[in-house]
Amino acid sequence: MYEKIIILDFGSQTTQLIGRRVRELNTYCEIVPFNKFPYGDPAVKGVILSGSPYSVNDTNAFKADLAQIRGTYPVLGICYGAQFLANTSGGKVESADSREYGRAHLTYINTDDPLLTGIDCGSQVWMSHGDTITVLPEPFRIIASTDDVRTAAYHIEGENTWGVQFHPEVFHSIDGTLILDNFLHICGCSKDWTPASFIESTVAELKEQLGDDKVILALSGGVDSSVTAVLLNRAIGKNLTCIFVDHGLLRKNEFENVLRDYEHLGLNVIGVDARKKFYSKLAGVTDPETKRKIIGKGFIDVFDEEAHKLKDIKWLGQGTIYPDVIESLSITGTVIKSHHNVGGLPEKMNLKLVEPLRLLFKDEVRRVGTELGMMPRLIKRHPFPGPGLGIRILGDITPEKVRVLQDADDIYMSLMREWGLYDQIWQAGAILLPIRSVGVMGDERTYENTIALRAVTSTDAMTADWAQLPYDFLAKVSNEIINKVKGVNRVVYDISSKPPATIEWE
Ligand code: XMP
Repeated sequence: MYEKIIILDFGSQTTQLIGRRVRELNTYCEIVPFNKFPYGDPAVKGVILSGSPYSVNDTNAFKADLAQIRGTYPVLGICYGAQFLANTSGGKVESADSREYGRAHLTYINTDDPLLTGIDCGSQVWMSHGDTITVLPEPFRIIASTDDVRTAAYHIEGENTWGVQFHPEVFHSIDGTLILDNFLHICGCSKDWTPASFIESTVAELKEQLGDDKVILALSGGVDSSVTAVLLNRAIGKNLTCIFVDHGLLRKNEFENVLRDYEHLGLNVIGVDARKKFYSKLAGVTDPETKRKIIGKGFIDVFDEEAHKLKDIKWLGQGTIYPDVIESLSITGTVIKSHHNVGGLPEKMNLKLVEPLRLLFKDEVRRVGTELGMMPRLIKRHPFPGPGLGIRILGDITPEKVRVLQDADDIYMSLMREWGLYDQIWQAGAILLPIRSVGVMGDERTYENTIALRAVTSTDAMTADWAQLPYDFLAKVSNEIINKVKGVNRVVYDISSKPPATIEWE
């Protein structure tokens, strides 16, 4: 069992970020709704109260009962968390005269306070609050101030409880990580949560949980399912069977290349060529959502068929990761979204779910993959949608259109790697547009397809900026595609950000 920090979530947008920062300090933490504290869990070493979109004075503000928490564990309140502590202890929180937002500097610091060890006067912090603490109750003591915010940070005398009205978890709080690290020190955390320790304990747990049971897993070529497979393989070896389906909408040579990588990793993997099945079901279909449904259902059918050829399967492995788990719990603890990558399968096949990555953030999954010795090309792969090129061919899908798009996309992605741009981009790909335009090649007039190139930067795909790729690079890609891909005479670059556009065109 790992020692852990509990982050009570009052609904702030930065709650996940607090979790990531704590994890970066090699300490395991769990984000739980503000009213779901795991009383009695002996592994809890400390508690962080997050920010919130509410004011503590709102009637519908989230309120936690801290009676059994304060005094039992070290507590750090951040922003709303700090205001909530002050407010419920007899202090006063009021709307700030001017909204306190953006960069500020700590002009007073009590350097004797253990939370602020190593922080120098003048340190930049990030403020983001409409309310401010105007009356600090006894025995709260101010330990840091900015020019505008007297109570930038406080310590409750005689109690292991602190509050900061700024956000140590955001990048712009220069010493924010140090403050969180000081808090972990106060909590007595041993900071030994690393990819290697995660692998060791997870493999042991999986062995215990699965025994001699057989597990089936759908591989997509993406990092989450691949790392899940390698981890399960380490625990149960040949009792894991992986299925990798070629629906005919993967990137050029992707099926063969990834299958080879999987085999090199020692996975027991069945590659299924189902291209014809998918092409025939998709013929003439133009509506994006209908295409998605056909591809999703087709995938389940193929997987189900393969699974039935195997005997005694008890478990379905899935690459669910922590943001999916957090997202699937609303703040009141009710499930609002389910994240079954192969939705409906566990019920249909009467399987239990095993999700060894459900505690990890995406960057941690990558680190675990690297620690497991997986090739960088599997670990650093851009996200790729389940329906694949099916939603990058606008309009109906034919094998010939797939060929054109695969060739264009392959040139784009190969050059992106060659120019050292691949790792700077969140996600990139080519899109085949359903329009033709006039061109001229040699002495001949052409009337052919248009390819749109997309590349975005992002941290979570919720928002994304179009990537400012060098003109020289775009010129090279355009030339290569038009010269080498039969059927294309025009290339355009998508300069729309999300929102209001989306990453995919369909
Ligand atoms: P959008 O286009 O909504 O995409 O900005 C956000 C992220 O989700 C991926 N995406 C999908 N992934 N099935 C998937 O597995 C889908 O139907 C699907 N649609 C979009 C997209 O590639 C991006 O990473």
